[in-house]
Amino acid sequence: MRRILLKILEKAILLISKDLEVSENSETCFMKILNPMDRIDYQHFEKHTKRWHTKFLGIKQGHTYWVYKVIDDILGENRHIKGIIEIGTGFGALSVFLGLECYERNLKPLLTFDTEKINIPRLFSLLNIEFIIQDCFSEESVKKIREYSNVPVLFICDGGNKIKEFNQFAYLLPKGSIIAAHDWTHEIYYEAIKDTIKKLELEQVKKETWCAFPDYILMSFWKKTK
Ligand SMILES: C[S@@+](CC[C@H](N)C(=O)[O-])C[C@H]1O[C@@H](n2cnc3c(N)ncnc32)[C@H](O)[C@@H]1O
Repeated sequence: MRRILLKILEKAILLISKDLEVSENSETCFMKILNPMDRIDYQHFEKHTKRWHTKFLGIKQGHTYWVYKVIDDILGENRHIKGIIEIGTGFGALSVFLGLECYERNLKPLLTFDTEKINIPRLFSLLNIEFIIQDCFSEESVKKIREYSNVPVLFICDGGNKIKEFNQFAYLLPKGSIIAAHDWTHEIYYEAIKDTIKKLELEQVKKETWCAFPDYILMSFWKKTK
């Protein structure tokens, strides 16, 4: 019975969000719908993200443009954050954006890890991005992450095992840091990190942007307030 009620509720939410979509423009964010079950209407999702998940400065994206706006807002609202760490460089599109944020906001230059060597974007050297080709869980990587995070950081889990990255690295970060998990609901979800969330009393940041129209960034953000 509970399952049926939940299904009906979920359908109702999706129907409401479709109705609002018709009358929504980019300025009317107050209409955004929260999907409490973090479940996505995939047809709707595909339609709204396809165009925004292509290339940035000619570099293949592993994320959507919308995430740039959300990250920019988070850094603007959390000026105590003094550096950014990215696990999973991929082709480097998000790294370039994060590197720009670090440069312009006068943070520590971006620290990014990947096990694969990529065709390094030219902006990496201009932005002093530290690209480390190494397993993020290796002893040296953990040491590097510890050293870098002697200040509050934005830590982005976007490597090969996001659940392990979140559950391991969240404990190493100082108070005020924000830990983000990409591919939210696809490769990482609440159940898998709930112990860490509870133990560290992590607080959700910008929840309305994670899995709902119009952002669909598929990235969750959690703040260490203690
Ligand atoms: C989804 S891609 C990253 C996408 C990139 N952040 C973006 O948004 O454009 C995941 C990357 O994680 C890397 N990776 C997988 N396991 C890793 C590990 N243990 N340490 C560091 N990087 C890893 C993979 O080689 C792959 O390039």
